[in-house]
Amino acid sequence: MSSPALARYEAKLAGLQRRGRARALLPQQGVDFTSNDYLGLANAPRVKAAISAAIERGVPAGAGGSRLLRGNHAEHEALEEEAASFFGAGKVLYFGSGYAANAATFSTLPQRDDLIVHDALIHASAHEGISASKALSVAVPHNDVEAFDQAIGRWRQAGGKGHPWIAVESLYSMDGDQAPLTALADIADRHEGFLVVDEAHATGIYGPDGRGLAAGLEGRGNVVVLHTCGKALGVSGALLALPAVLADHLVNRARNFIYSTAPSPLMAAAVREALRMIADEPERRVRLEALISHAGEELRSRLGLSPSGSQILPVMIGDNARALRIAERMRAGGFDVRAIRPPTVPEGTARLRISITLNVDEGQISAMSERLAMAIEEDRA
Ligand SMILES: Cc1ncc(COP(=O)(O)O)c(C=O)c1O
Repeated sequence: MSSPALARYEAKLAGLQRRGRARALLPQQGVDFTSNDYLGLANAPRVKAAISAAIERGVPAGAGGSRLLRGNHAEHEALEEEAASFFGAGKVLYFGSGYAANAATFSTLPQRDDLIVHDALIHASAHEGISASKALSVAVPHNDVEAFDQAIGRWRQAGGKGHPWIAVESLYSMDGDQAPLTALADIADRHEGFLVVDEAHATGIYGPDGRGLAAGLEGRGNVVVLHTCGKALGVSGALLALPAVLADHLVNRARNFIYSTAPSPLMAAAVREALRMIADEPERRVRLEALISHAGEELRSRLGLSPSGSQILPVMIGDNARALRIAERMRAGGFDVRAIRPPTVPEGTARLRISITLNVDEGQISAMSERLAMAIEEDRA
């Protein structure tokens, strides 16, 4: 029965519905053109075997507490040590999710007299941390190197005394394009600032041994890199790679690290195996690259698109309701394609976010592209 207290939520949901912004949980349906399981590791026998082996040697399912209490398991520490050596970082902290790690980073590391300068398109989890931070923050236009530099310059001229923090994604989650990391690292160096790189969609796929697009910057005293484990690594959690003193600061100050049950030690064992796989099985990256280039050609020839060049291929639609309708047609045709709408992406840029993973082959990519060209046409009619 509806009550006035619940009616407020019904009205809000009705408002979302009217604006084409309502969301609902859908089952997995059809061929995967939407997941972030880029290298097909989520279902890989080696990862599952690592979990079985961990169970065999007595690793518990649950951590039983916060890392700062009895929840700190040898599996977490083994993973963090192996990851620090793999990424060439001072220290690595394993978080339960990338969302938690971004929230912890931005709410805890920048200090009151600092400035956070972030790309306009950074992920919601970074915004979560930024809005909880005591530092000032400013957004700059997407991938505009000059704008980062100028925002810091203006802040200094206005009396900014602390250190600037530049926040970007190495490969943008909804656009599939890359950040100009080297130029941004130079700006951070010049202004005695820090560079925070979210590699959520690059780890495992790009850089030497799949170490990401920021591989050449890791280990610097002013660079913090987030490697999430739920995308190309196929499992879950996030590895935050940073100078040891900053890691120790987080262990002492980051509320969502301190006041939260540690991730499952079994998951830590799974992540360790996934990291080994990205180093040992470069053929997965080679295969993905071939699929990306096939998808690019298909989308270019059938839809006249300029592909991003990465495994994330946005097909811009604009209108929310239209994006939803086309995605529905795709699912009805056996292809799991999702519409991405505001506020996840800017107003007026609703899109289909096609992702390419090792869960598909060339034939399925061609069939999906053909169906997509038809679905867009049918929706116009
Ligand atoms: C760019 C980016 N950062 C962080 C996250 C959060 O990572 P997780 O899914 O591990 O919470 C995501 C996932 O949606 C992402 O796309």
